[in-house]
Amino acid sequence: MSKYNVAVVGAGAVGEEMVKVLRQRNFPMSDLRILARSARKQVIDGVEFDVKETTAEGFDGVDIAFFAGTEGAKGASQVFGWLAVDRGAFVIDNGDDFRMDPRVPLIVPEVNGDDMAKHQGFVANPNCSTIQMVHALAPLHKKAGMKRVVVSTYQSVSGTGGAAIRELNQQIKDYAAGNEVKNQQYPYQILANLIPQISSLKSDYEGYYGEEIKMIKETRKIFNIPNLPVSATCVRVPVFRAHSETVNVEFDNPITAAEAREALAGWPGIEVMDDPANNKYPMPLFAEGTDPTYVGRIRQDSCNPNTLDLWVVADNIRKGAALNAVQIAEMAIERGYIK
Ligand SMILES: NC(=O)c1ccc[n+]([C@@H]2O[C@H](COP(=O)([O-])OP(=O)(O)OC[C@H]3O[C@@H](n4cnc5c(N)ncnc54)[C@H](OP(=O)(O)O)[C@@H]3O)[C@@H](O)[C@H]2O)c1
Repeated sequence: MSKYNVAVVGAGAVGEEMVKVLRQRNFPMSDLRILARSARKQVIDGVEFDVKETTAEGFDGVDIAFFAGTEGAKGASQVFGWLAVDRGAFVIDNGDDFRMDPRVPLIVPEVNGDDMAKHQGFVANPNCSTIQMVHALAPLHKKAGMKRVVVSTYQSVSGTGGAAIRELNQQIKDYAAGNEVKNQQYPYQILANLIPQISSLKSDYEGYYGEEIKMIKETRKIFNIPNLPVSATCVRVPVFRAHSETVNVEFDNPITAAEAREALAGWPGIEVMDDPANNKYPMPLFAEGTDPTYVGRIRQDSCNPNTLDLWVVADNIRKGAALNAVQIAEMAIERGYIK
């Protein structure tokens, strides 16, 4: 089997998990270099790495580059993404910068892996909330055809990155000690609170915040249904890790809860956890640090035909980011897109 020179760009919440996932899955690496904004030593997964400052030359000889840097004009992907492709790397990007770019396939391997055939050396990982939702919807769409999706999310602070995890930890300590609770990462304290705002307002859809618009647009791109009606409300909750979602989905054709359970149980990467009489349903505490997308509370909508309600939970740093990116690379190798 070939081995590859791998670079991970960004050593925050996602970059660290990327390194862990690569090692756990015995990804065929001959070299692993970690690049970030600033050089330093950093212990990841019990190993001390020599993190280097990201430069164009840093991509020379790299076969696969996983980007997990900050988004935006000064972020790693915009500055170095296509430059890394020019230098011969196959790029898998975790951020939002190029997800809707027509040159860039937006991939969840268990959902639309075939779309990768059109790649130009650069593939994007969808948003964490989109990944787990489309993963759960794929087997149901195949069976009954989606007509409309309404989703509400309950998103953990790790979705914001390492600094937000530290902030919730600090708020817990300050609250317990009776000290003033300070906030920087969010407009309000997140401890003992819920914040119905993720990202900022955008002009695309009036009244929707950025994360909600990502879920709408990315879902349409992934399923190749440009006008699919999707509405999203995204909420930040004081949970450290794993995102949860209620999904109300209407289908073209009838589908029972039992049929949905069966279709979901047979789909790669999905775990059905659905025994409400015995208090069994997915929760962030179960999902944290694990790979599946969990689905439970599967039931027929009591007031709309051909419609199901679902509760979907997954670890946003693993299936929502690092794991999905590594699965994309594995599929790209298997299909001969990375030599
Ligand atoms: N957290 C999630 O659940 C999640 C899920 C899906 C996708 N994502 C996306 O994944 C990316 C990383 O998220 P995160 O949560 O890991 O963020 P994070 O904890 O804030 O870490 C960001 C990392 O990016 C590095 N970086 C920033 N600008 C850079 C540049 N110009 N060149 C090289 N490195 C740069 C930083 O380097 P320094 O350490 O040197 O400052 C840091 O290591 C973001 O695009 C995010 O939207 C996150």
